[in-house]
Amino acid sequence: MTEKILVTGGAGYIGSHTAIKLIEAGYQIVIADDLSNASPRAIDAIAEITGTKPEFVEINLTDNAAVGQLFSEHTFAAVIHFAGFKAVGESVQLPLKYYRNNLDSTINLLQAMEAHGVKDFVFSSSATVYGVPSEIPLKETSNIGAVNPYGKTKEMIESICFDLASSDASWNISLLRYFNPVGAHPSGKIGEDPTGIPNNLVPFVMQVAVGRRDSVQIFGGDWDTSDGTGVRDYIHVEDLAEGHLKALEHLKPGCSAYNLGTGQGYSVLEVVAAASKASGVEIPHEIVARRSGDIATSLADPTLANAALDWKAEKNLLEMMQDSWRWQSSNPNGFS
Ligand code: UD1
Repeated sequence: MTEKILVTGGAGYIGSHTAIKLIEAGYQIVIADDLSNASPRAIDAIAEITGTKPEFVEINLTDNAAVGQLFSEHTFAAVIHFAGFKAVGESVQLPLKYYRNNLDSTINLLQAMEAHGVKDFVFSSSATVYGVPSEIPLKETSNIGAVNPYGKTKEMIESICFDLASSDASWNISLLRYFNPVGAHPSGKIGEDPTGIPNNLVPFVMQVAVGRRDSVQIFGGDWDTSDGTGVRDYIHVEDLAEGHLKALEHLKPGCSAYNLGTGQGYSVLEVVAAASKASGVEIPHEIVARRSGDIATSLADPTLANAALDWKAEKNLLEMMQDSWRWQSSNPNGFS
């Protein structure tokens, strides 16, 4: 098997873990990343872990000429598209930045694929497309309605993909709606490396555990959940990466969306407790006001992905925290 797979955003958190799975499965990959929110050290770590240095192209996908050149220089069998801006708060402040970047880059990519007859596409979508959940657990058929510009770019790209597949039956597209990715490669050599103050719970908790920050602020203790704190479907990034491999192998004509989650919810307090257990560090935390835009519970019904992709998330919360901790404690300042 020597098919070349283009992995955009392959130096980022989920992209780098997927790159490893692809190389381990025997695929030849090309990573395209502009390194705007990723480190070249992730590429070195992929090489260290797999023993194979992936081909790397530093490219901004909003540069249409550069994307054209990339496709003239390589023959791709498929594209897995991770590259994109992903900070919810920033997207509310700078919506045009998000619409311009996430939409332009994806349209450039899809046009280049069309021009070169590459019709296999796996897209990094998000459970954020469901907005305020219309039902729990969320099914792929649940109402869509992203509530911030970041989420709307995911929703718009999904629409573009559905339209494209209806216009031309030769496209094979999978949209992967991730729930809450956490954890890291068990080697501790790659993991999530947010710039600045982490917005997401687990990177924040880990920075408190390692001593970079004082205390975790828990956004609300009065939600309608078992212990009053928010409940999410956390999924190990290794399981998620495996999901991409399965999605690639099970691509079928048309455009299909799949929930990638475990179907099991954990509260913020349960996450903090598991992180304390994994790290052996007492993690100070306090309940503060709710964060605007948050919801009580987000939970996947992953049965469609389980059946159609022959995939199931395997790792539990403690394993997620153990791997996050191994990465954080061996790299207290991330890749820098
Ligand atoms: C967030 C994004 C979502 C994105 C996802 C990517 C928002 C509103 N949503 O989801 O669009 O797809 O990240 O992973 O930003 N929490 C705390 N203290 C913290 C941080 C978080 O209590 O310092 C709580 C939150 O209120 C929530 C849970 O932890 O209940 C998880 O939060 P987070 O990791 O930010 O993920 P989401 O909000 O689910």
